[in-house]
Amino acid sequence: MVAAPGFKVGILGAGQLGRMLAQAGRPLGVNCKFWSDREESCCAGLGEIVASRYEDELLARRFGSGLDVVTFEFENIPAETLRTLSEHARTAPPPLALEVSQDRLKEKELFRSLGMQTAPFVAVSDLPSAHAAANALGFPLILKTRRLGYDGKGQALVNSSSEIETAMATLGGVDLIAEGFVRFSREISMLAARNGTGKIAFYDPVLNLHAGGILRCSIAPAPQISAEQLSALRENTVRLLNALNYIGVIAIEFFEVGGGYLANEFAPRVHNSGHWTIDGAKTSQFETHLRAILGQPFAPTTTLGRNAMLNLIGALPAPDFSAGQSVYLHLYGKTPRPGRKVGHINIRAPQYSDLSMKVQELCTVPGVSDASAEIESFCARYLA
Ligand SMILES: Nc1ncnc2c1ncn2[C@@H]1O[C@H](COP(=O)(O)OP(=O)(O)O)[C@@H](O)[C@H]1O
Ligand SMILES: [Mg+2]
Repeated sequence: MVAAPGFKVGILGAGQLGRMLAQAGRPLGVNCKFWSDREESCCAGLGEIVASRYEDELLARRFGSGLDVVTFEFENIPAETLRTLSEHARTAPPPLALEVSQDRLKEKELFRSLGMQTAPFVAVSDLPSAHAAANALGFPLILKTRRLGYDGKGQALVNSSSEIETAMATLGGVDLIAEGFVRFSREISMLAARNGTGKIAFYDPVLNLHAGGILRCSIAPAPQISAEQLSALRENTVRLLNALNYIGVIAIEFFEVGGGYLANEFAPRVHNSGHWTIDGAKTSQFETHLRAILGQPFAPTTTLGRNAMLNLIGALPAPDFSAGQSVYLHLYGKTPRPGRKVGHINIRAPQYSDLSMKVQELCTVPGVSDASAEIESFCARYLA
């Protein structure tokens, strides 16, 4: 990448994803400027931070001035703000991608319109429509808020009609989507990037373990993916990227059912299930995103060895934790709070069996994971 005179990239959001984008950009001569809606930020020291509400229209008109491109690392910025920004500066990914991803109903409708399979779903706006949805879908079903959900928040599992009313009350009287409960065998995500010339770069599929709705562990490449499955995953990804005229990195989450895939949701940004790429791919998802949005050629996205990523949630590893060979600790400079992602550990090994041993060993370190039991059986199941 050309380092001089230096690219300037604006980023909406200043959390760990912004931090890792800026860190990837530094050696490439990319300077970042953040728009954050809070004072405290884990991007401190990595570039100028402009603090204001994301609804600030005046800032939306001015923020992009002098920047090569503006991107976002946070999905809940108002689509309106990105639209305004895009009238004054180059923005990527496109506002449409953000808008669709912010609404689970629009998202699933788009998947379907592109011939991508999804869990059965019905829009729910009140109690009668919830009961109608239950009649159509059967039990169990999942009620999700159409907007603003993440890490399993804004969701309720419903096992019978007597539970519907309480579930709706917990979700706070907003528009919902009801989804049939999918008995998937595994969760797979696809990370890919598209640039302005329509070229697409893929990472290997990733196998993900969620517990309590939060991503705990990712394995890449996902083991036991046949050539047919790989091409199905890629074809789905290409359809979505092209339909959105997308630029940048995208992550699409799939449920694997009977060897096929149901698209669950997509994130129009770099993604937690791609954090392994920092140490486990020739080019990280963060650099790939910067290359795509800056109109630079892609660098190889090839996987190096076998990789795992463990999220550090709510706690830091014991102070005497030493990462060791092919174990990479990434902290986000955040104060631990229950449920808060404060860092991750990447682990690389030549074979899945070594990887499994290393992951299980790490899980015994205090503070590394409160989902060690789940991770252990996950490893035993897929990495043996
Ligand atoms: N329809 C479904 N059937 C079964 N499990 C689901 C379904 N939808 C979500 N889940 C589980 O809940 C997790 C979080 O849901 P998701 O739709 O990805 O929302 P978010 O990640 O935005 O919180 C998924 O990764 C999956 O483990
Ligand atoms: Mg998800």
